Amino acid sequence: MTNQQNPFRPGAGHLPPYLAGRDKEQKDFESLLQQKPVLQNVVLTGLRGIGKTVLMESLKPLVAGAKWAWVGTDLSESASISEAAFAERLLTDLAVFGAALKIQTKKVRAIGFNAPTSSGELPLNYQTLRVLFDSTPGLISDKLRAVIELAGSLAVAAGASGIIFAYDEAQTMFDNPDEKQYPLALLLDVFQSVQRKGIQAMLVLTGLPTLFPKLVQARTFAERMFRVIELRPLSQQEAEKAIREPFKSKTVPEEFHFSKSVVELIAATSAGYPYFIQFIGKEVFDVLGAQPDRTKFVVPIHEIVKKLDQEFFAGRWARVTDRQRDLIRVIARLPTANDEFTVQEISEKSRDMKDTIKSFKQSQIVQMLAVLTERGLVYKDRHGKYFFAAPLFADFVNRLGD
Ligand SMILES: Nc1ncnc2c1ncn2[C@@H]1O[C@H](COP(=O)(O)OP(=O)(O)OP(=O)(O)O)[C@@H](O)[C@H]1O
Ligand SMILES: [Mg+2]
Repeated sequence: MTNQQNPFRPGAGHLPPYLAGRDKEQKDFESLLQQKPVLQNVVLTGLRGIGKTVLMESLKPLVAGAKWAWVGTDLSESASISEAAFAERLLTDLAVFGAALKIQTKKVRAIGFNAPTSSGELPLNYQTLRVLFDSTPGLISDKLRAVIELAGSLAVAAGASGIIFAYDEAQTMFDNPDEKQYPLALLLDVFQSVQRKGIQAMLVLTGLPTLFPKLVQARTFAERMFRVIELRPLSQQEAEKAIREPFKSKTVPEEFHFSKSVVELIAATSAGYPYFIQFIGKEVFDVLGAQPDRTKFVVPIHEIVKKLDQEFFAGRWARVTDRQRDLIRVIARLPTANDEFTVQEISEKSRDMKDTIKSFKQSQIVQMLAVLTERGLVYKDRHGKYFFAAPLFADFVNRLGD
């Protein structure tokens, strides 16, 4: 059995062999493609490894089927820290699609573009977009608005339903009042304004659960501007399907198929978290292939979970200080730690554990949670409840012992 035959695909953004349990989310999204004018944009959100990127990828055929254009990028590495950098990003992304559109040269001349063309038309490529951007008077938001309005109208004139601007890892964007840079507010202002004018441009932002609160904080109207699609772990049944289906489409010999009890074990151990399903599935498949006598096969589940700890969690754990680890250990002991927790609960638990871990004052807890939030380890919802950003992080911490 070679590695290529292993049907499982753990890894950020790696398309799963079978996308389980996301029909509702896809339908939800698809209904928004009927909008004319666009009133609702999309926030696609959920924990690390829950399947945001691959779901977003799975929307592309739906988008193409409804004749929308798709432009965008992954913002994780990008410099969307200044307004100009974000505008540049957007122009670059738009140009890929725009290059196929044509604009009358006389229109571009009117805004100061002098290159002669014999056809009387120019492609809406980067150069044209840039000239349009630069020659529009006013603020960066005015310039961006002009560009999107033009691209949107040309797209519709060419028979498209509109343009979708899709940004993954959008939670990495932030406004920076110290530097007077507000790229997030810029994005929201521009789209709200072009949509009000009836331009067919729609935003799809994907990111960690911090994303939506962040948008609302930048502009309160964001609350009404987005449909939030929150990805949850798969149900036991969906998880089992995610494990069983890959064997149907692949030519994996019968003897390597998982038994019912193995499927159930993987589904239960993963708690329905897609990355864990792919990871454990892949490992089980590999050890199964190495068994001389598969009838006596016992899944070494504890060893596999240890390996998962190393690959998924250990890096996050390595980046926190000793005192932060103490705090996380306290949190992990709360019965609801895998779900949600409050400062009050942590404070009480901390008092219970004072014999092993020096207790924390409430003000200290608040301050440390803020640091952990900035690090992307923890996040806070609008009701002041806290969560770990990585699924089942508390279980991992408890497995570490002391
Ligand atoms: N519905 C699903 N069914 C089966 N496997 C899935 C499903 N969704 C995602 N996966 C698998 O889970 C893993 C994580 O998916 P993905 O990278 O899309 O998550 P993410 O939410 O974007 O994570 P991150 O927050 O780290 O960017 C991948 O290996 C992917 O193949
Ligand atoms: Mg992702």
